[in-house]
Parts: sequence; structure tokens; C-alpha cells
Amino acid sequence: MSTVLVVGAGGREHALAWRLAQSPHVTRLILAPGNAGMHSDWERWMISQTDGKPDYISLAVRAKNEGVSLVVVGPDDPLAAGIVDVFEAEGILCMGPSGKAAQIEASKSLAKDVMLAAGIPTARHWTVTSVEEARKILVSVPWVPGGGWVIKADGLALGKGVQVCDSFDAAEKAVSELFPLFKKLVIEEKLHGEEISWMAFCDGQRCALLDPARDYKRLLNKNQGPNTGGMGSFSPVPGIPEGLEARIRSQVFLPALAEMKKRGIPFRGVLYAGLMFDAATDQFWVLEFNARFGDPETQVLMPRMEGDFFEWCIAVAKGDMSSLPERVPFSRETALYVVAASRGYPGHTDTGKRVELRSGALGTYFFSGVRYENKDLVTSGGRVLGALGVGGNLALAKETAYRALSEVHFEGMQFRSDIGDLE
Ligand code: AMP
Ligand code: GLY
Repeated sequence: MSTVLVVGAGGREHALAWRLAQSPHVTRLILAPGNAGMHSDWERWMISQTDGKPDYISLAVRAKNEGVSLVVVGPDDPLAAGIVDVFEAEGILCMGPSGKAAQIEASKSLAKDVMLAAGIPTARHWTVTSVEEARKILVSVPWVPGGGWVIKADGLALGKGVQVCDSFDAAEKAVSELFPLFKKLVIEEKLHGEEISWMAFCDGQRCALLDPARDYKRLLNKNQGPNTGGMGSFSPVPGIPEGLEARIRSQVFLPALAEMKKRGIPFRGVLYAGLMFDAATDQFWVLEFNARFGDPETQVLMPRMEGDFFEWCIAVAKGDMSSLPERVPFSRETALYVVAASRGYPGHTDTGKRVELRSGALGTYFFSGVRYENKDLVTSGGRVLGALGVGGNLALAKETAYRALSEVHFEGMQFRSDIGDLE
């Protein structure tokens, strides 16, 4: 009988907790901090601040005193700040990488070093530390017609530090915009194809792949508008050729884990490879590694995953998945998730709008930006909630998710109507 603590406040953490609650081993669930839309049986702990920073030491001491036996960490910031090291110092098992291993996401240059050393296919890139150096690279590398550059900040920038540029002028502009904000930039050649989010449970040397997922990062239909934290997702991804998974396992995950181990920073947790796959040439590249579950991909993976998620978390946290299968089992159904966001998102947003769920609404919802005002559930941020649909195929999953979403209303609610449409 176990008490499990989930760290984070969004839809991803809601889905993780929802799935953990289904395990016969889990008797008590705590969210830190969670949000007001989550199940009332789950406890919520606030994370106190010390010197303007979240105080993970106090959280870990409290967790130890209250008998927490497993911690599952959702977001990237606490991982990069070393939350797992703090909990482990208290003797508590953690599903997540050490602060050092989490740098595979936080530092784009470390990610590239690992990819190059391990022979993992990725875009050609150059790391630069000044505008002059960046210009030199931009002019010396010939402009390929139909090509392009991607300029990325080194460090966690929540997707805001990446600019995809289709012309030399745009690339130069991006460099001059990003340099005052960041000390180091990575310049990459632009790749073409379809993006796939592929995650694996990793115990430091072994990996077990989950099913792939697709997320929709842009705000508006047809992938228009600004980048967001994610407006929807679905899983599995149709059209993935037979044998790609085995290649991803042997050419991406296993070499990355071996390289991290060789560097003395073995990776235990969920490793997420953001891939570009070009079906025409049957080639793939790794765009990025994340050291955590994807959001909103987790919201479509948890409903389809078979077996006991808790057991996977324990095995990962202990660094020994030897008794579990080489691949995580998934149902054959499709899951699709549509996010509803506040007016103004991803910029400055409305808050305090009453969130109404038509009485008798039967859908499954994962909440993120909500709080209580008196007894009303009201919006408190950008992404408010998402509706889940599960069905025998993509069309049925889409229909179910949008039907569930139609039961929800709040003033200024915006969502994409094309989640699930293939380009
Ligand atoms: P990243 O934070 O590195 O994943 O970049 C954010 C997004 O920018 C990715 O999800 C892609 O949509 C896009 N992107 C990043 N790198 C490239 C690249 N080399 N070629 C094309 N698109 C890219
Ligand atoms: N869905 C993209 C991410 O979690 O980074």
C-alpha cells in the first residue's frame, strides 16, 4: 500500500495522477501543488518558497514524515533544479532524472554533444556566443533553396527560445533578438518531415518505448498562429512504417542512454525524443530530448497504456526494469485530447471566468489553469482544461473528445477544431 506524490499543476500531472489512482498499490495520492479541478480525494500540498525559489527540501522532509514512497515529477523546471536529488537524499524513490541528467533537456548544447558522440541522427548545428560569430556561420554556410535555419536559445525557454526561419534575413533578425536575452545560441539547419513525440521509460541502461504521439503546438487551426504549450494531441500516430520503432530504439534511445552512462550521468526517468520523420526518404532526426513526460502527449498515453503504471514508476526509480517487458503495452484504441484555453493565450490571459460543465457531462477532463473562487471553479491561466476522447479509430476518438468539449463553457474559451486532422 503506497502513498504517491505527483509534482506539478497541469493537465499532464492530472493524467499521471488519474492513472496512478487506478493502481491497486496506490492508496493515497498527493499533488504538489495540483489544481482545483483535480479529484477531491487527492490531497494538495502547496510548495513553499525560500529566497524566491521553490523549497524542495521542505517538501521532501514533509513527504518523508508522511510516508510518501514514490514521487513522480511532471515539469522540466523542478527536474533541472535537482528535485530528484533532494528527494533521493531523503531516501524516497523518484520517477525522474537527477538534476545533472535532466540537463539533456535544459542544455541544448549538452543534448547535441550527446547526439554527436552517440551517432544519433540530428540536424547540423553550430553553437555561438556572439552576434558576430553567428553572422559568420550564417554567411559561410551556403543557403540551400527551400532550406532554412532554426535559431535556438541554450537553456529552458518554454518553447519561446526557438525561431524557425525561412530566409537569411529572418535568421539574422532572430539572432539579434535572442542575443540580448540569452548568452549562447544554437544555429541549426531546418529539417523537413512530420514531427513525432516518442517517449521511453529508462532505468539508466535499459529502455521500454511507449507508443508514439503527435502534439499540436500552434494556437490556431492548420498550424497557424503562435507557439503554445500545446493545444491538443493524439496517439497512436498512423502511417509509421513497420520497423521504425526498432530503429528508434537501437539508433536513438539505447545509444543516448549508453552515452549518458559513460559520462557518469545515467538517465533514469522518461526520456522524450522529439523526432522529425521524412517518409519520402525514410530518414529521421532527433530535434530535441526532453527529460520528462510530454504535455499534452501524456494525456493521450495514460488512457491507452496497459498494465500497472505504478510498477513501471517503481522499476524506473529503482534503476532496474529487468523484470518488465522491453516495450510498454498499449491498447489498440486511439486517444485524442483537445485543450481549451483562455482568451489572450499564449499572451496575457483573462482569469476569474466561471468554468461551467453542463450537468451530466460524461466526458473525461484533465484540468490545468483553474482555481476555486468561493465555491465556483474559475479560470486561473492560459490552458484551462482539456477533453479526452477514446475510440476505435482517430475519427471516433475525435468525435468523442469534441462532444465532451461541447459540454464545457467559459467566457473567452478558445480551442482548435482540427485536432486529429492529418496534414
Ligand atoms: P525544440 O524546442 O528544439 O524542440 O524546437 C521547438 C520546435 O521548433 C520543434 O518542435 C519544431 O517544430 C521546430 N524545430 C526545431 N528544430 C527544428 C529543425 N532543425 N528543423 C525544423 N523544425 C525545427
Ligand atoms: N508537447 C511538447 C512538450 O511536452 O515538450
